[in-house]
Amino acid sequence: MRQALALIVLLAAGAVCAAEGSGRTPLPVIERAAAGTQCVEPPETMRRSHMDLLKHQRDDTVHGGIRGAKHSLKGCIDCHASRATMSVAKAPGDFCIACHSYAAVKIDCFECHSSKSRLAATGALR
Ligand code: HEC
Ligand code: HEC
Ligand code: HEC
Repeated sequence: MRQALALIVLLAAGAVCAAEGSGRTPLPVIERAAAGTQCVEPPETMRRSHMDLLKHQRDDTVHGGIRGAKHSLKGCIDCHASRATMSVAKAPGDFCIACHSYAAVKIDCFECHSSKSRLAATGALR
């Protein structure tokens, strides 16, 4: 009997913790892409599959010599770079970083690739 009561108390405490946890979890704030543009795939698809698209595009380019294609990393950056930093991965709020730190994902892509928009170099601000 005592054990059963202890179990109920534990379960109730667990339920309270879970409810509090979900209420407090902050969602990532994701900066909007360049105005008047559309993503290379529907945003739902991108949220789920951008890593596969990028890896596939890299293989096409590095092994197949195809450049300037639809899922180019440079393309992502041109549309998604922050207005403030012109980058997708410089400040904590920049596009790729904001979501990845929320999801605890780490990528090494920007050790080689520039995270800055090509438009930054030409001064063509949006
Ligand atoms: C021509 C501009 C353009 C290009 C190129 C582009 N995007 Fe997008 N992307 C958008 C727009 C517009 C949205 C819709 C949401 C918005 O307005 O910010 C979006 C949405 C997304 C989302 C969902 C964001 C959310 O709010 O949940 C992800 C993830 C994403 N893009 C990743 C990428 C990646 C990775 C690439 C490169 C392979 C890329 N995008 C290329 C314009 C672009
Ligand atoms: C060790 C350096 C290095 C790292 C790390 C790296 N890349 Fe690359 N990547 C390259 C080189 C070099 C090319 C070939 C560039 C070219 O020929 O245009 C390339 C090409 C690409 C391309 C095709 C060109 C383009 O702009 O679309 C994509 C996509 C790409 N990489 C994605 C990634 C992603 C995603 C990551 C992280 C998971 C990554 N790369 C990490 C060096 C690297
Ligand atoms: C809407 C949130 C969101 C945005 C924005 C976002 N990512 Fe991601 N990304 C994720 C999540 C979540 C994962 C982990 C998916 C998994 O593990 O299945 C991920 C994984 C990845 C991976 C694979 C990492 C690995 O270890 O294999 C790459 C590469 C990547 N993202 C590149 C990018 C780039 C480049 C950008 C910016 C142009 C970007 N992502 C923007 C949510 C996002």
